[in-house]
Amino acid sequence: MTKKIAVLAGDGIGPEIVAEAVKVLECLGRNGLAVELEDGLVGGAAYEVHGTPLPAETLDLAKASDAILLGAVGGYQWESLDISVRPEKGLLGLRAELELFANLRPAILYKQLADASTLKPEVVAGLDIMIVRELTGGIYFGQPRGVRTLDNGERQGFNTLVYSESEIERIGRSAFDIAMKRDRRVCSVDKANVLECTELWREVMEQVARDYPEVALSHMYVDNAAMQLVRAPKQFDVMVTTNMFGDILSDCAAMLTGSIGMLPSASLNAEGKGMYEPIHGSAPDIAGQNVANPLATILSLAMMLRYSLDEAVMADRIERAVEKVLDQGLRTADIHSDGMQKVSTSAMGDAVVAVL
Ligand code: IPM
Ligand code: MG
Repeated sequence: MTKKIAVLAGDGIGPEIVAEAVKVLECLGRNGLAVELEDGLVGGAAYEVHGTPLPAETLDLAKASDAILLGAVGGYQWESLDISVRPEKGLLGLRAELELFANLRPAILYKQLADASTLKPEVVAGLDIMIVRELTGGIYFGQPRGVRTLDNGERQGFNTLVYSESEIERIGRSAFDIAMKRDRRVCSVDKANVLECTELWREVMEQVARDYPEVALSHMYVDNAAMQLVRAPKQFDVMVTTNMFGDILSDCAAMLTGSIGMLPSASLNAEGKGMYEPIHGSAPDIAGQNVANPLATILSLAMMLRYSLDEAVMADRIERAVEKVLDQGLRTADIHSDGMQKVSTSAMGDAVVAVL
């Protein structure tokens, strides 16, 4: 049966990197994968046309598709807009509307890139961490929120960190299920020494752990986790954490792998439906220059094949093709080092397709 994929390129480098992933998809299409692609607008690109970062037709398309490929959203020109129509709201709206609560962010160091990391090769060699970030709750979505004016005339900003037991339990189960297929270790990251909400988080994680006797659960405060990620990152297998802590720690983990341009992600709902996107942003400073690294997006496509389209063999093929182009010495600017061949966004995509 033909699978329908919504392609939401978004803003900044989004269209450039998504175009390379689409080349890869089309190549698979010529080799037996039955897919149908449909483009949709999201973020600033959608705001310019429809006055909203998440038009109804884009949401309908996303809901009607088997999977969603997303580039990135955001850019300088929209930074002064009201927060309710900023590009980021388009992305957050998709996550919330589709209930994509489980965000998987694998940080893997390709051996070819050991020199690209700012950390010593022995600290990062062989790195393979899975960050499981809660994506539809926490302080990103908690109510009340806003900016109010106090009696003394001073303005006060406020957001609410809130997690219900069921929200913690379901992301906990996602993390433990993944750990069962890996090294069976889960580190839950919280700030239970200060925040009641994450004290509950810790308690619920303990409860979930009882159903997974083969998985070792540990807990870490987020400040220590940030430190440990750069001190001795290989101690981690699966990390599970809240929406905002996960946002921060995954950028940190990305740099262990040499470049944020290498990290894919999958955001899944309870039925396994997913949105796939690189974890980096829209990088407006380099947009339109054909220099961005398309590999995180291409690797996100591999995650899509594995998690939503049941095509694990094709997913493996893409991941091997990425390794192959790195073996060939091809590097976009973000991962370039002496002796390697610097290539453009499109040349990198073409190289992956050629290997496939
Ligand atoms: C990410 C991004 C988003 C987030 C932004 C663009 C809203 O940083 O996917 O990590 O904060 O979740
Ligand atoms: Mg982020």
